[in-house]
Amino acid sequence: MRKPLLAGNWKMNTVLQESVQLAEALNKLVGDVNDRDILVCPPFTAINSVAEALRNSVIMVGGQDLFWEEKGAFTGQVSPKMLKSVGASYVIIGHSERRQFFAETDETVNKKLCAALANNLHPIICVGEMLAERENNTTLKVIEKQIKGGLKGLAVGDAQRITVAYEPVWAIGTGKTATPEQAQEVHAFIRKLLVEMFDKPTAEIIRILYGGSVTPDNIKVLMAQADIDGGLVGGASLKADSFAKLVKY
Ligand code: 13P
Repeated sequence: MRKPLLAGNWKMNTVLQESVQLAEALNKLVGDVNDRDILVCPPFTAINSVAEALRNSVIMVGGQDLFWEEKGAFTGQVSPKMLKSVGASYVIIGHSERRQFFAETDETVNKKLCAALANNLHPIICVGEMLAERENNTTLKVIEKQIKGGLKGLAVGDAQRITVAYEPVWAIGTGKTATPEQAQEVHAFIRKLLVEMFDKPTAEIIRILYGGSVTPDNIKVLMAQADIDGGLVGGASLKADSFAKLVKY
């Protein structure tokens, strides 16, 4: 049985004080939850303080990206070790916003994935089709390319430490959630790919999150689907009460 994971991606929101306040408020509301995993991914500038605020909490902390090199002349980049040193245990990789605006490709996703795993960070690999691709009926083809490219060369043991997030780009920040059936179709397809690439026990371990306009009102029907193991939440994770409701779906 896969333990549900509810993850908040704060994106480029919350200055330092707001981040700490949000983390503390959330901790008051969900600090006693232990039948599901809870994760928040603040901006880099707030990870350290949020991790401090959540030091004795069940809520875990993650980064929203990383760079694959260990150190050196890479102005503006953040290494896996840097993330770990400020208290992150997870990292989001290949979010569609990074693919769209920051030239992320399946190849760079793969390098970041390997670097995260080598440093004992839990990677959350994001995949998802654009609206035009769904309308062209190429959704599954796009997902297959992203999964095969992103997870290329991964050993079975490493694959067991990853999480996948399916986030249809047309559902992100638009209020247009995929229907539970649309999401389940893609999640089941991803699980099938994972069986082919690794093996069945591995595919059964890997959590596949859904993301894209998840709210306290729609999380329950999404989580009722066989292959939906949690949510990667943007907007609704920025208010403690709505994220807490969502966590306690
Ligand atoms: P929204 O929940 O705001 O649609 O964002 C989803 C997302 O991109 C999470 O990574």
